[in-house]
Amino acid sequence: MADLDDIRDGNNFGVGIPVEGQSFYIKGHDHAGWGLKNRLANMFNKKSGNSVMLAFDHGFLMGPTSGLERVDLNILPLAPYVDVMMGCKGMIRSTVPADCETPIALRADAGTTILTTMNDNVVMDINEALAMNAQCMAVMLSVGCKDTEATTVKNLFTLADKANPLGMPVMGITAVGKDMVRDARYFGLASRVCAENGANIVKTYYTEGFEKVVAGCPVPVVIAGGKKLPELEALELSYKAISCGAVGVDMGRNIFQSEDPAAMAQAVAGVVHDGLTPEQGLEKFNDLKG
Ligand code: R5P
Repeated sequence: MADLDDIRDGNNFGVGIPVEGQSFYIKGHDHAGWGLKNRLANMFNKKSGNSVMLAFDHGFLMGPTSGLERVDLNILPLAPYVDVMMGCKGMIRSTVPADCETPIALRADAGTTILTTMNDNVVMDINEALAMNAQCMAVMLSVGCKDTEATTVKNLFTLADKANPLGMPVMGITAVGKDMVRDARYFGLASRVCAENGANIVKTYYTEGFEKVVAGCPVPVVIAGGKKLPELEALELSYKAISCGAVGVDMGRNIFQSEDPAAMAQAVAGVVHDGLTPEQGLEKFNDLKG
């Protein structure tokens, strides 16, 4: 029981000192609840405002692709160098230690593989994601694909309705619909559709005119890396996206298929967080390599 005697009156109220910093640093989330903001803050570095997310969810679509044959050997050693690890529930439960300090983004939809038509029509239960202490749930939208657009928009829309009130952010991933031109108009439309339907973060692809994609999207935008490029080109891609207002990368193959994934993760972080140019990033890669 609390002591009843010697209750001391507070006398250090800072009277006259205004409360500072009430505006939240993550775009579009001033009015979000505390839990949702806290999860976002766990993913985005407070100093740079940016994030390096390491995507290793590819196996749910393509199996043990190059660099992901053994997640325990190839991916876990990269955890200290990135801000977020993004994977599927089965791989995370089986392979990522529960004391991993890097926050987890859960790939939360599934349905088909690369062997058939892309149609992610099952979404993970929000309670399961909460129980796994996920910092966000990521689902794909195939804007412009007439067979799967409606299902995937519904996935995001209904997940955001359930997840946001429980403090769980949702990341919308823009998969490129069949026959779509990969330009700023398309990615601007797809990104905006994600945000309007409730996404708290949008993951899309860099393209010429990307500043318009970012400006037209009211929540943070990160880019996917896409197919493996030479290291300098992948760093240029990251640099250009950040220069256009993106707040990070959710990159997979250009990190884990690099000749030195740990060096590449740190070089990308140099560009994303420390303002390195692509050339400086490559220098960092070469210094750390091997
Ligand atoms: C795509 O649906 C997956 O979510 C990947 O995580 C995404 O494409 C990022 O990986 P990569 O940089 O290899 O393209």
